[in-house]
Amino acid sequence: MILDELVHPIIQAPMAGGPSTVALAVAVSDAGGMGFLATGYGRVETMRAQIRELRAATERPFGVNVFVPGSARYDEVAVERYLRQLAPEERRYGSELGLPRDDDDDWAGFLSVLEQERPPVASFTFGCPSDEEIARLRAAGISAWVTVTDPAEAQLAQERGADAVIVQGLEAGGHRGGFRDEGDGEELTLLSLLRLTHSACDLPLIAAGGIADGASLAAVLVAGAVAAQIGTAFMLADEAATHPAHRERLRHAAPTAFTRAFSGRQARGIVNRFQSEHSALAPRAYPQIHYATSPLRASARDRGDADGFNLWAGQTHSLAPELPARDVVLMLATDARAALSRTTERFQR
Ligand SMILES: Cc1cc2nc3c(=O)[nH]c(=O)nc-3n(C[C@H](O)[C@H](O)[C@H](O)COP(=O)(O)O)c2cc1C
Repeated sequence: MILDELVHPIIQAPMAGGPSTVALAVAVSDAGGMGFLATGYGRVETMRAQIRELRAATERPFGVNVFVPGSARYDEVAVERYLRQLAPEERRYGSELGLPRDDDDDWAGFLSVLEQERPPVASFTFGCPSDEEIARLRAAGISAWVTVTDPAEAQLAQERGADAVIVQGLEAGGHRGGFRDEGDGEELTLLSLLRLTHSACDLPLIAAGGIADGASLAAVLVAGAVAAQIGTAFMLADEAATHPAHRERLRHAAPTAFTRAFSGRQARGIVNRFQSEHSALAPRAYPQIHYATSPLRASARDRGDADGFNLWAGQTHSLAPELPARDVVLMLATDARAALSRTTERFQR
């Protein structure tokens, strides 16, 4: 299994919309973890070029993440009402709202480039590919991983032939990666999710959400994960393309919360002005709201205004180290080992 090839059980989370770079993935893979490319919001040919660039730069295993398009219905009246509420933001940022459009993110195109380029791992977010699609990937020698947020999703991924599941606790930064976005189910913290999924499904579990130091890495391994997928703790790494104004907010303790204000889909970010003013009315409508707010967010980023764009971050963001990614991996591994031996000693008394 590919996970056995890793020197350290550390997987860099794909982070679309800025932080993920080829350089970050190369650094993590070369350090003995597993780097990931994020293709969300991107184009098929960019994914192909990035896979080739990454493969040329490292001989170590890596992964590629793809968003699974959904068909969720949304309330057009609620979307119109929300966009009217955002009119003052247009004036503030001197930029018009985009069209609240839908797209399928060229799903078929992404799948066929994966089959052609054959990265060692492909992971999926916002849904589970069909059993035929997973079989096609596996026939091309690709391990298929699926992001889940509850044990039933893990069971479905197992039935469809996935090789592993990424279990994402509610602590995680960025979008909730599960199959549905109804907001009607119970949101599980990582420890509960890990244990419940462990008893419901036989696949290897990769833990994600709030893991930002060696002790929390050790904790999820003890709790049944084979590896951790870590996002926010790599956002201040030299190789991450995290916006400077976003970096500044990540450094300091500040509350995070779920919001649909930026994209129409639940995601965790550091609470800023935009998020606190607009979350209450933001409807469930992804990717429509994502496209509608995109020009406003771009303009806020250009101005370095951290109160006008999404500050995705996990709950432990203030622990993120400011180091080259290689040193982040080595520090996490060393500290996890130390935490495990302290724990073992405790039981030998
Ligand atoms: C800035 C940012 C962007 C993200 N983008 C993606 C993505 O493109 N695909 C994905 O599967 N998960 C994405 N995630 C979620 C991560 O895969 C992972 O679940 C999360 O980072 C784990 O929690 P942590 O940030 O506390 O480590 C993103 C997270 C962040 C913080």
